[in-house]
Amino acid sequence: MIRLSKRLKIIHDMVPESVVADIGSDHGKLMIALVQSGKVKKGFAVENKEGPFERLRSNLIRYHVEDKITPLFSDGIKDITRDVGTIVIAGMGGQTIINILKAHPEKLVSLQTIIIDAHTSVPLVRKEISQMGFAIADEKIVKEDGIFYEIIKFIRADIAALTNEDLEFGPVLRHQKSATFKEKYQSRIDEIDNIIAKGNLPAPRIAQLNEEKHKLERYI
Ligand SMILES: C[S@@+](CC[C@H](N)C(=O)[O-])C[C@H]1O[C@@H](n2cnc3c(N)ncnc32)[C@H](O)[C@@H]1O
Repeated sequence: MIRLSKRLKIIHDMVPESVVADIGSDHGKLMIALVQSGKVKKGFAVENKEGPFERLRSNLIRYHVEDKITPLFSDGIKDITRDVGTIVIAGMGGQTIINILKAHPEKLVSLQTIIIDAHTSVPLVRKEISQMGFAIADEKIVKEDGIFYEIIKFIRADIAALTNEDLEFGPVLRHQKSATFKEKYQSRIDEIDNIIAKGNLPAPRIAQLNEEKHKLERYI
């Protein structure tokens, strides 16, 4: 079995049995693991850069999954086929992910599931994908090498009403309040305390930081 990082293992476990396209596949580890675990019988691994694409292609051959996973040298979701039910976009900035999805709205029509691991602008991702006709079905937070990652599973739905707090903290995460979730916001509170303790900030900035701290304290 190919070894996955904690982050990729969580993504793997969220993927339903379906035809899957991994957009920005790089090394191809996720798709290889999905075939090895039996979740995926057919899929696409998409890359738009030559180096990663060559690495991807040789990994698919090395792990004997080239009959099930088609490597596509392509931009985003442009060339995925209508039978794809799930797409994964992981390890990119939130705005890049939104741009990839918005570039080909016709490709979203047949999708049932979108799994996102955005490394920036997570609230924006929640907002924009909810407006594309998907609702958040599951969320997980994981810490790896000192960095917190939020993995979000969207499924097709007519209505997805999200409050501002849902967008910021995650509708599932903020109710689950896992130990990792609390650790993330406790570390921000500690950071705010340290900034304020240095004592050289103007009063409006201190008030702003205290407001942020009080909001976060509700979640730990
Ligand atoms: C940081 S890697 C993440 C790899 C893997 N998804 C993961 O989470 O470990 C991002 C990959 O996405 C690829 N990429 C970025 N934009 C893309 C696009 N529009 N279409 C296809 N691949 C893209 C990059 O070349 C890079 O290999």
